[in-house]
Amino acid sequence: MTKYSSKANTFSVLASIFTLLLVSNSLSANKLIQNIPGRDVFTLNGKWNYIIDPYETGFFDYRYEAFDKMKNPGNGAFFLDKTPKDGSELIEYSFDKSPTLIVPGDWNSQDDKLLYYEGTIWYRRKFDYTPKVADNRVFVHFGAANYESHVYLNGKKLGSHIGGFTPFNFEITKLLKPQNNSLVVKVDNKRKREGVPTLNTDWWNYGGLTRDVSIVEMPSVFVEDYLVQLKKGTTDEIAGYVQLNGAQQTENVKIEIPELKIATEIKADSTGKAFFSIKNKKINCWSPENPKLYDVIISADGTKVTDKIGFRTIETRGTDILLNGKSVFLRGICIHEENALRGGRAYSESDAVMLLNSAKELGCNYVRLAHYPHSEYMLRKADEMGMLVWEENPVYWTIQWENPETLKNAKNQLTEVMTRDKNRASVIIWSMANETPVSDARNNFLKELAAHARSMDNTRLLSAALEVHGGKKPAEKVVEDFFADYVDIVNFNEYVGWYDGMPEKCDRTEWTIKYNKPVMISEFGAGALQGNHGDINTRFTEEHQADLYNRTLQMLSKIPQFRGVSPWILYDFRSPKRVLPGIQDGWNRKGVFGQNGTKKQAFFVLRDFYLKKEAEYKGVK
Ligand code: GCU
Repeated sequence: MTKYSSKANTFSVLASIFTLLLVSNSLSANKLIQNIPGRDVFTLNGKWNYIIDPYETGFFDYRYEAFDKMKNPGNGAFFLDKTPKDGSELIEYSFDKSPTLIVPGDWNSQDDKLLYYEGTIWYRRKFDYTPKVADNRVFVHFGAANYESHVYLNGKKLGSHIGGFTPFNFEITKLLKPQNNSLVVKVDNKRKREGVPTLNTDWWNYGGLTRDVSIVEMPSVFVEDYLVQLKKGTTDEIAGYVQLNGAQQTENVKIEIPELKIATEIKADSTGKAFFSIKNKKINCWSPENPKLYDVIISADGTKVTDKIGFRTIETRGTDILLNGKSVFLRGICIHEENALRGGRAYSESDAVMLLNSAKELGCNYVRLAHYPHSEYMLRKADEMGMLVWEENPVYWTIQWENPETLKNAKNQLTEVMTRDKNRASVIIWSMANETPVSDARNNFLKELAAHARSMDNTRLLSAALEVHGGKKPAEKVVEDFFADYVDIVNFNEYVGWYDGMPEKCDRTEWTIKYNKPVMISEFGAGALQGNHGDINTRFTEEHQADLYNRTLQMLSKIPQFRGVSPWILYDFRSPKRVLPGIQDGWNRKGVFGQNGTKKQAFFVLRDFYLKKEAEYKGVK
């Protein structure tokens, strides 16, 4: 038995703590690189081999020990991507001989046997890559992967990521080979009680590498992140910061906006961060009617990144929402990230254009991207097309409010979407939660999220789908929620006439809302199978849905603080909870467009209401 002196013991303890810190650090994704579309990108989209692994055989040994925590994981670990050297070697998997899935894209809609699959799938992509410049740095970037990912390159663990709708990246500079690199990703979409979202959701649990996967090549010092927006409360001062990565000493950073004749030099501090503020009286503010975007160039030490950025102000004053100082009514619709026509998760630029064009057709100037962050394409297209946006963190229904890991997860996902989208003019509202049952633990959880959001962005508005309860009078509804004091817009979902009585109940419902803040309704609606007709009292007919829309819009228009609405929902969407044969068949039928893209009668009711609203607000100051 080897005896160590106490000093040697202390040393070995310290050494192992240091190693642990190093490993744990490397196991979480690196700092997010913003604006991937503006970088030097080599796409890994396309066919990836895959292995279905419901028992996680490729991750745990038979004692349920994780292979990637072992010094010698042996042949069981799928991430080693091994092939037998000779007939004697036992290897019970082969990516080369396995089928392929298309990336980006959920697995559920690519193969009938995967439609309901919830578990692990291993993806493997082979690729050759030689950096264009010898000492450049190389990263692998994922637009999103639902829900938990473990990433390996050439058998070495890069790290892991939790959260199905936000981007992450890892540096691979030192692990890359010129030929035959093996990128292996374990994606597990199992729902978890402690997850964000948790076990129960009314949408399809699409799993997989659901957005673009890219190799990104950067100079040794590069612009990792930046904020370029109007300073809060001004229309003539652009302020923000630039964060360099790899800057060993303070560097000069340049911000250029040629059309505004801006070319400002600033100095980064020892952490590579440089703050700036630039006055300019010629800024043409972005709005849905005038989606003006400026070319912005940020450069430092030979590196450069360009972006297209719009400048606008958003604030509330009493019960008004002011866009560039003018009162606005948010003519909205809710959207799930799904292309009902193709089936499965929406992920492409053309998917984003299709969805936003459908909202435009409806007369919308605003969309609620439910219930989680959508692809970056949606936000960049909303900037270009002139569509205001509500972005939502998937704190949905019965989250584990008392679990600190769940709060850390929710905060991390909120940080990632705010890091990615903080320069998008279209984004005006960050939503903290959807229909979360009130309790002290829930209130504290949401308070923390709101404080975190405001610490990252003091310019945009905060909201959530708050709780509603019955009042003293027979058909009285009261909007009263602890969290209403922490948000800028009092917003809620209501289903009077669908889950609560028939549409006629809208005519006799009174709303009690005692907040001197703008009020929005982020959901109302009814199911209707497109093409299914009958009288207005027959549920799931188009006539019933249209009647509910008519009566609801009249009911909500009586609320004095009413400043916006986003009915549920643009398109029918898949949900395992909707199983009525011949009507739902695994689809939630509340779309104003059917699953096949045909408009329902309710579409025209809503569009007429929005045309009138648009005219009403044209002259408003
Ligand atoms: C809820 C929920 C949605 C759901 C909808 C419905 O309010 O927010 O996610 O799909 O109602 O019941 O259709």
